[in-house]
Amino acid sequence: MRLTMVMNSSRPNDHVPARYDVDGVDLASVDGVLSTTRSVRLRLDLDRSVPNELILDCIDLAEQGPGGGNQSSRRWLIVRDSDQKKRLSELYWESAGKWMVSARDKLAGTEHRNTNVMRSAAHLAENLDKVPALVIPCIWGVHDDSKKPGLFDSVVQSAWSFCLAARARGLATAWTTAILNNDQEIREVLGIPEGVTPIALLPVAFSTGGDFASISRRSAEEVTYFDNWGHTWEQRDDDADRAIGEGPGATVELDVDASPATVWSLITDINMGAQFSEEFQGATWIEPSDGPALGAQFIGTNKHPKIGEWQTTSTITELKENELFGWAVGDGEENAAARWRWEIDELHGHRCRLRHTVRLGPGPSGLTPAIEAMPDKEALIISRRQEEHLANMRRCVQGVKALAENS
Ligand SMILES: Cc1cc2nc3c(=O)[nH]c(=O)nc-3n(C[C@H](O)[C@H](O)[C@H](O)COP(=O)(O)O)c2cc1C
Repeated sequence: MRLTMVMNSSRPNDHVPARYDVDGVDLASVDGVLSTTRSVRLRLDLDRSVPNELILDCIDLAEQGPGGGNQSSRRWLIVRDSDQKKRLSELYWESAGKWMVSARDKLAGTEHRNTNVMRSAAHLAENLDKVPALVIPCIWGVHDDSKKPGLFDSVVQSAWSFCLAARARGLATAWTTAILNNDQEIREVLGIPEGVTPIALLPVAFSTGGDFASISRRSAEEVTYFDNWGHTWEQRDDDADRAIGEGPGATVELDVDASPATVWSLITDINMGAQFSEEFQGATWIEPSDGPALGAQFIGTNKHPKIGEWQTTSTITELKENELFGWAVGDGEENAAARWRWEIDELHGHRCRLRHTVRLGPGPSGLTPAIEAMPDKEALIISRRQEEHLANMRRCVQGVKALAENS
């Protein structure tokens, strides 16, 4: 949904400038593995055995990962014995498997975004005991909720390296943790001593074939902040001068204890922000409207202590019920002064993550004259504007959260 593909699995490194090529590193293969190592559950070959040698090679590579204090604290369990696998699969079934199967059956035939994930997760739950090898990365140490780094931080990177090394050898893995809810029982089945923590259960099998693709995730520009939390930048090229047209922006996110539909009804009210923002004063639809529609336009009124009051025309450019509401300010999307967006990501438990973003440009905006007058202060002018936007956006997001949670 609404996400930018950053990689194409057939040519995964087109976007990397040639000057970053390193002798001896086949970037296409490395990027291919990094971008196509998926949680494989449906395409596990349950009939083909996996040699220990291959798994141990992958563990050797995984052990190259960093560890706190450079200590050798990771331990790995490879479970092949059919009785042991049966016991683990029963624990997996109890902790999540039966729930996954019932979720799959409920979602079957619907367009819910988790339909495929549940089909795949349920298949694994029903077949875990038949997977040739179950690999359990462990670490010496017990998580004490101290919030200090050091425990999982010394094993997660290695466990993922294991999955990447496996992928490069034609093996398929899936990162699973559902079984960890039964901590005591896993210890009993496998004899894991107190003081050692298992961190995942990785089913390992040859894949039954076919290509694995990279998938749509948010682009780096959307999830990366520069210098200050929430300051985004669309431009990738370090050598380019900063400019409004290159898309400085701001992002505010907050988790809300309310359903996407409740939040949706609040964020699509074009006047809602006026209750909370110190800059946005309110808006009216140009054509009478009961609510947002793609292409619909509204006039917004704003005020700023240094600029006074001004009005803008905006056009709705993105609209997906309960998920995405976006509009471009000014002269059409291609020459917009700014592009605003509300996004709702559904979380487990009838909750959602609310995300509010603005990207300045690509067209001229209120900042353009100031930058033209003081080009050497461009970065500062933009950064201050990002902070102003962030302050108002935080007020709006917190306001929506309060309204939604109390409705
Ligand atoms: C922390 C974590 C725990 C997970 N636990 C399970 C699990 O118990 N069972 C399962 O089938 N998948 C599990 N997954 C896999 C996710 O469902 C999977 O990553 C997601 O569907 C995206 O698919 P992809 O990995 O192919 O991109 C887990 C993934 C992570 C990161």
